[in-house]
Amino acid sequence: MHVLVAGATGVVGRPLVGALRARGHRVSALVRQRSRDRVPEADEVVVADALDREAVLAAVSAARPEVVVHQMSALRLLRDDPPGAFALTARLRTEGTAHLVEAARAVGARRFVAQSIAFAAAPAGDPVLDEDAPLYVDAPDPGWASTVRAVAELERQVTDPGSGLEGVVLRYGTLYGPRTAYARTGATAESVRAGRLPLPGTGAGIMSFLHVEDAVGAAVTAVEADVSGVFHVTDDDPAQAAQWLPHLARMLAAPSPRTVPAALAPRLLGWFMAHQLTSAHGAANDRARTALGWKPARPSWRDGLGQE
Ligand SMILES: NC(=O)c1ccc[n+]([C@@H]2O[C@H](COP(=O)([O-])OP(=O)(O)OC[C@H]3O[C@@H](n4cnc5c(N)ncnc54)[C@H](OP(=O)(O)O)[C@@H]3O)[C@@H](O)[C@H]2O)c1
Repeated sequence: MHVLVAGATGVVGRPLVGALRARGHRVSALVRQRSRDRVPEADEVVVADALDREAVLAAVSAARPEVVVHQMSALRLLRDDPPGAFALTARLRTEGTAHLVEAARAVGARRFVAQSIAFAAAPAGDPVLDEDAPLYVDAPDPGWASTVRAVAELERQVTDPGSGLEGVVLRYGTLYGPRTAYARTGATAESVRAGRLPLPGTGAGIMSFLHVEDAVGAAVTAVEADVSGVFHVTDDDPAQAAQWLPHLARMLAAPSPRTVPAALAPRLLGWFMAHQLTSAHGAANDRARTALGWKPARPSWRDGLGQE
């Protein structure tokens, strides 16, 4: 198949280009002009900023792919400018998706696969939630509420039956592995080493992790499958912060995380991280296993988190 990957220089996009080519697909990489020197080896490179509608239409029309994959975010800016990173990522999820969907339709593409997140659900109901759980669009933190609304909008556009595309949304768990924030050299690992990531209260928030290789594998499966819909792409081992955070500290030979009162967490860690560590619910991957035909090659974060 001919697949266009937008976000081809990213944590998932870069290895995805190689994985698709290894499966015999022809891959066009869509990248920004400024990132051309960081493009992985692809069959073709087309250039556009996803926020520039005309440029996206021209680039996709030059490539004429059968399948379009959206792996774009601005989360690389998180370390230096968290509000800016979230705001730009929200625009990539809303405007960027709209431009890509329009371009995909214009060239008669058949399928559209987009990255989303598995940790946007409202913290209510079962400790581990399926894809039907309501999203946290009314989160008390305005920043997180707008992130989740952008996620909901991306998912609406990609699964809109009127688009004429087979749409697949892959809600990735918290990524770990090479080049992620949870890599040994990543920002979260740095915080753990520096003792800046304490355990609030009982650390009852539940995280569903995903190794970056499994994110790539799920995207390949989604490109090749013929089903559409929204899927949690997470490992089999949702875990409380009280489990994974001390484990990560041990793997990094860092001091054991100290415990702080839960009420102090938002001020110490920011609203989102405090929510993740105290009250977030996990994400179940049953639908991806049964309907998409994907399962994680790395079923538990316990076998890899903090090791690379
Ligand atoms: N589920 C998760 O936990 C999750 C998901 C995604 C990212 N992350 C984290 O975010 C951190 C940052 O990773 P990353 O920066 O490589 O992000 P990334 O989300 O993996 O990749 C971003 C991709 O989007 C592209 N992009 C950004 N703005 C664009 C625009 N306006 N037009 C076209 N393409 C655009 C980037 O291209 P350029 O090279 O031109 O910038 C890059 O290819 C990592 O630590 C990762 O763990 C986590």
